[in-house]
Amino acid sequence: MKAKVKKLQIISIISFLAAVIFLLGFIISISLKPKTEKQNSDQTHRLILGFSQIGSESAWRTRNTQSIFEAAAENDIQILFDDAQQKQENQLKAIRSFIVYQVDIIAFVPIVEDGWDNVLTEAKEAGIPVILVDRQINADPSLYAGFLGEDGLEEGRRAARFLLKKFNGTTSTSDSGKISILELSGTENSSVVRDRAKGFREIIETDNRFEIVHSENGDFLRSRGKEIIENLIESSRSPAITGRLKTNGLYYNGKKINAVYSHNDSMTLGLLDSIEQYGINTSDTVIISVDAEQKSIDALKAGKLNCVVECNPNLGPKLMELVKLVAEGKEIPRITYNTETLFTEYDDFSLYTERGY
Ligand code: AHR
Repeated sequence: MKAKVKKLQIISIISFLAAVIFLLGFIISISLKPKTEKQNSDQTHRLILGFSQIGSESAWRTRNTQSIFEAAAENDIQILFDDAQQKQENQLKAIRSFIVYQVDIIAFVPIVEDGWDNVLTEAKEAGIPVILVDRQINADPSLYAGFLGEDGLEEGRRAARFLLKKFNGTTSTSDSGKISILELSGTENSSVVRDRAKGFREIIETDNRFEIVHSENGDFLRSRGKEIIENLIESSRSPAITGRLKTNGLYYNGKKINAVYSHNDSMTLGLLDSIEQYGINTSDTVIISVDAEQKSIDALKAGKLNCVVECNPNLGPKLMELVKLVAEGKEIPRITYNTETLFTEYDDFSLYTERGY
């Protein structure tokens, strides 16, 4: 009799455990399961945005990611996030996983311009709209809903207009009579680099005193900006007086650099690291940077930079507006530019507010 009761108790415990395991499995499968068509059409369901970021190469980028997360939380939009660690192949994988998951919308920062047609066709076939953030692509426009980000052409023009103003009425001290420019550019084949370079040239080419003597890709990284300038300083050591450094400015192939146009603050801060380390005096070198991180604004105030072109990373609120419109099946503008300004040595610094990044 006792043995029978014990057997019954064991059976009920096993049945209870089996029921618990089944229930847990069911709950997990529901929460992980991609959405059904019914859920898609359900007006009240929480929107899911698959967002592929390129990495965290700069304080600008970190702020850009934060802005998107903050705005998503404020709008009750769920984000599936992927950090591509600066690799397009990782972005392609992430976008494909968003498609498998059947997110409502995909947004991504295209690290480079080309190579997106196939994956965007797959998203289109799956009925998932795509919004480009920060950078543009070379692809059939019907493959994405729209672009949100900066006007890179205008950023380049702003930098060049400042240069023209700064050198207005002056002649160069260089032998060639030209005003020599060193350009530090960012990620190769990215739309932002193409635009910043193009806009800049468009303006300086209107004045034949200006000449870009050297342009080098610093990958938007502080370490690369530092390295490029270090190499420049080292290679301009005077051969006549063995190994002696030229400390009165930067030189390229014996030519004194009159101006530096750096495509982002990280590389500019790297440049400042090197000139400080080597004790180079750049007081007569005009230095222009792009982004307007707090550190570069501080450098502008300290007289180390002459001009900082703002690139606004706070894209989150506008992105969520666009996401909601697209989710409602509405059309969005092909291009939405964020508002941006210019900071120069001519400003009243007391009017500046904290940048927040
Ligand atoms: O695409 C925007 C650029 O990318 C920013 O200027 C730069 O800082 C970032 O890494």
